[in-house]
Amino acid sequence: MTKTTSTSRTLRARTRAVRGGLERSQHGETSEALYLTSGFAYPDAGSAERRFRNEEPGYIYSRFSNPTVAAFEQRLTLLEDAPEGVECRATATGLAAVSSAFLGTLSAGDHVLSSRALFGGCRYIVEELLPRLGIASTLIDGADIKTWEAAIRPNTKAFFLETPSNPALEIFDVRAIADLAHAHGAMLVIDNVFASPIFQKPFALGADIVVYSATKHMDGQGRVLGGAILARKEVFDDKLGVYLRNTGPSLSPFNAWVLLKGLETMDLRVRAQAAGAEQLIAYLKTAPGVSNVRYPFDPDHPQTNLARSQMSGGGTVVTFDVAGGRDAAFAFANALEVIDISNNLGDAKSLLTHPDTTTHARLPEAERRALGITEGMFRLSVGLEDPLDLIDDIDAALKSSR
Ligand SMILES: Cc1ncc(COP(=O)(O)O)c(C=O)c1O
Repeated sequence: MTKTTSTSRTLRARTRAVRGGLERSQHGETSEALYLTSGFAYPDAGSAERRFRNEEPGYIYSRFSNPTVAAFEQRLTLLEDAPEGVECRATATGLAAVSSAFLGTLSAGDHVLSSRALFGGCRYIVEELLPRLGIASTLIDGADIKTWEAAIRPNTKAFFLETPSNPALEIFDVRAIADLAHAHGAMLVIDNVFASPIFQKPFALGADIVVYSATKHMDGQGRVLGGAILARKEVFDDKLGVYLRNTGPSLSPFNAWVLLKGLETMDLRVRAQAAGAEQLIAYLKTAPGVSNVRYPFDPDHPQTNLARSQMSGGGTVVTFDVAGGRDAAFAFANALEVIDISNNLGDAKSLLTHPDTTTHARLPEAERRALGITEGMFRLSVGLEDPLDLIDDIDAALKSSR
């Protein structure tokens, strides 16, 4: 008999990553089936009525749920080590996950308190979109817990942060911030993209909602967009589930299938990429014309102790500054022959981003500088190439652009 399902939380993490959410069809396929269908046929009219009333199990329409999407959601929940009762809903992109987490749970008159160290799209949602809809927001320098405390209002319903942040790799004390949020009746929403579920388990640190861009490490090979929201079942039952079902930020079954397969190798990829990042920073710290090398597990990172207390690895992203301003920075980037210039991250290919002119360009200059984004700053997502080739590439580019 073929094994059909594997949802056990008792299996070890790497087994869950490969077997979690597996639900074989009658054919017993080894790779997960791809249910590329928008809808489902009902055995009879009464069944359709009962399914719409939630009185009978079964799929209805892929905007609501789909077996391939459900397999991805199940596998990610298992990988996250989410506590009993936490569920996952997949979304079309990471930003669909972030916007839905707020729009599906908050109402006009509520207030969101957020760290200002956010990815550009996340900042747009918190800083511009929510206030336009009557949900006030305050952005703070969140390194000191007192700044969070001082900005709480009676109507604060959600705290939000990315740790490590994009791109400056700032670390926030998740346990302390979660305790503060809970003491004031607010929920803590964490964007865990940079750490990935491999290196950081936000629920164990007190988070209430965890959001992901699955486009990054989960795919890990630059193929599809995707996102995910993990939260307790009650959060979905209360408002978020209805929001998702009726606004339609759903993940396509095809993308879910690619991401499901990506989860099988994510642990191996992320650990290998992090090892590559460690090798690269050792070189970058000695490279002429390079300064301000940042990596959460580097002893020179100002918050490395905090990073080590809540992460089990330093991640796959390194940042550094190249001397000489924007022209020198562009000359360096243009001289690279292996590493690509791109805005994505978490990919098997090493990708270099100039946040000042791309991902964070919509922020005013003073704000970019306050976030540590200078004209010479680069964010490097370390891929799976041999780190020695990456070092040679950077070394040659630095020399030729000097
Ligand atoms: C920290 C972070 N959150 C969210 C997103 C948005 O993800 P997506 O591009 O899948 O919408 C990104 C994308 O770069 C990101 O870096």
